[in-house]
Amino acid sequence: MSITNFRSADSGAHAVTGKVTFQSLQEKKQSTRPITALTAYDYATSRIVDEAGVDLILVGDSLAMVVMGYDSTLPVTMDEMLHHARAVRRAVKRALVVVDMPYGSYHVSVAEGVANAARFLKEAGAEAVKVEGGATRCELVERLTDAEIPVVCHLGLTPQAVHRMGGYKVQGKTLAAAEDLIRDARMLEAAGASAVVLEGMPREVAAKITSELHIPTIGIGAGVDCDGQILVFHDLVNLSFSRPAKFVRQYADASSLFRSAIEGYMHDVEARSFPDESESYHLPKDTMAAQLLRKA
Ligand code: KIV
Repeated sequence: MSITNFRSADSGAHAVTGKVTFQSLQEKKQSTRPITALTAYDYATSRIVDEAGVDLILVGDSLAMVVMGYDSTLPVTMDEMLHHARAVRRAVKRALVVVDMPYGSYHVSVAEGVANAARFLKEAGAEAVKVEGGATRCELVERLTDAEIPVVCHLGLTPQAVHRMGGYKVQGKTLAAAEDLIRDARMLEAAGASAVVLEGMPREVAAKITSELHIPTIGIGAGVDCDGQILVFHDLVNLSFSRPAKFVRQYADASSLFRSAIEGYMHDVEARSFPDESESYHLPKDTMAAQLLRKA
């Protein structure tokens, strides 16, 4: 194969129709077709999310809370994020896979941030990384872009700043704070960001940012005017064991579904009705099962 004969998402044995790219997200923004995004952290759920046709899958550091049981996103490590990102990568064919940079992986220096981000592309097959924060991230975003690493930024309620914010609080509620968010969004776009997540901010502020930026905005608790929406998978299906935030809409109750499946299984084991004959293996007829068993 010549080096100019690029294998694209549309050719070869594992052809995928309509592979999502930042260019296709951009086209969605331009034609005002909403972008769908969800978090996912493992093979099984990522397959379901991808096969359902969601555009963007975020391996969010929210996994620290909904998968690992921590009470914030802060403790999750690079190695843990890589481990989950690889599982998601194995499952996803069509959606754009974005991985969250965990707290501490880009806060010490820009050089360390770039090196850590490169690991997500090289070792886990991520197509982009996400970083939280405003104008202070511009240098990092520029350097990542120079290093061919697409970056999704994250503005507003940024969970890694929980201690600075004094809790998980809606941001941008005063005129000055709203103007800061709008300025930050403009600066991050100018620095090279490919998209921006807008979390926990007044709908009007998110609408203004969305109309000003050329790159797509993806909202969570930021109103309906964003170019797309994202939710945490476990919130969507009631698996997060916490009171849902105002912006969460639950579409299924996997907690009840799983609980009743587990109770049904326990009941059948205790009643010796599981496994039944059709779920058991038997000696082939020609091995004279009865004789063998008698001799034993
Ligand atoms: O980690 C995460 O799940 C996120 C989303 C809430 C956007 O950052």
